[in-house]
Amino acid sequence: MIVLGIESSCDETAAAVVVSDGRVLADVVASQIELHAPYGGVVPELAARAHMENIVPVVTRALAELPGGMAALDGVAVTQGPGLVGALLVGVQAGKAFALARGLPLVGVNHLVGHLLAVHLKRGDASDASPEYPFIALLVSGGHSALYEVRSPFEIEQLGQTRDDAAGEAFDKVAKLLGLGYPGGPRVDRLAAQGNPKRFPLPKPMASKKNLEFSFSGLKTAVAHRVAELEPGQLDDSCIADICASFQRNVVEVLVQKSLAACALRGVPRLVITGGVAANRGLRARAQEAGAAAGVAVFVPPFASCTDNAAMIAYAGAQRLLRGEDDGPALEVFSRSPLLGVTGDSPASKRYKSSRLPRA
Ligand code: KG4
Ligand code: ZN
Repeated sequence: MIVLGIESSCDETAAAVVVSDGRVLADVVASQIELHAPYGGVVPELAARAHMENIVPVVTRALAELPGGMAALDGVAVTQGPGLVGALLVGVQAGKAFALARGLPLVGVNHLVGHLLAVHLKRGDASDASPEYPFIALLVSGGHSALYEVRSPFEIEQLGQTRDDAAGEAFDKVAKLLGLGYPGGPRVDRLAAQGNPKRFPLPKPMASKKNLEFSFSGLKTAVAHRVAELEPGQLDDSCIADICASFQRNVVEVLVQKSLAACALRGVPRLVITGGVAANRGLRARAQEAGAAAGVAVFVPPFASCTDNAAMIAYAGAQRLLRGEDDGPALEVFSRSPLLGVTGDSPASKRYKSSRLPRA
């Protein structure tokens, strides 16, 4: 089955064509980073307008790369939520119009499910190795930080999530505090590699708590205090690099420790790390190292599959289309919702949250 995917939940307008076995035939992403950079974050109204301008050119480009053009398509998948409603509506309306005009089935995809299944995308290179089910997934992006057990495309259980900021949000806020600009994650990552992670003692949030939840806002506040304590003129390049290194080391330690604890708890020796923060070099290196020591195989999809893209939406949608599902023109957007098909609030998962976790 060949599926057109459309993604417009935040600040990327994206379209892709993917085969239901994961092969990526076309993958186009129009980023709005420069549009939002002066504001230090995504401005919803500007995002929606930019999606309006970009959606037709982006879909057209994706289809132009497809041998056989739009006649080769078997279905359409579009991000339904969570995300910015004005932004989501642009993609959903485009998907509906396209499906209606071509007489194709249309399915809505939960953006988070897209991220969790992105590890199955095949781009024809060394990154194509993907885990069998079940696997534990750490999803860390600008909007989400959570751990899941993924048993199939339709059976996904949330094991724990952040109580406040997402990991990427913390990176962005710390970068802003240090005057590094937006988005901050890649810049903190680069500077952390040059800094001394021991110079500024910072808390390791929730590290000692016996659950699978995260919290990053306290760490961000601790960084703000360290910066405020500095003498005027002390915040030079080497000091900024040292703060980045200390902050990143603590975030990475907590993410890796809890991910491996989830693997041990569920007896699943496969860990997937996905979302924009999975690009972090410190996180990749530490997860591989600690995973090897714990006997856990760690999978980190390539950057193009980790950040927001439409290939993951097409792949996740294809799994629904293969089952004959079709949401049709009644498809609606949602801004916030628990993960579809997730049993995160079941008594069982509450029990897991409060039970003692084995050390990873
Ligand atoms: O998945 P994504 O592209 O968009 C969302 O759905 O949020 O993730 C973007 C987030 C931003 O917060 C960005 O600062 C962070 O991922 N990020 C990084 C790195 N590259 C991107 N954070 C840490 N280190 C990186 N190298
Ligand atoms: Zn995302």
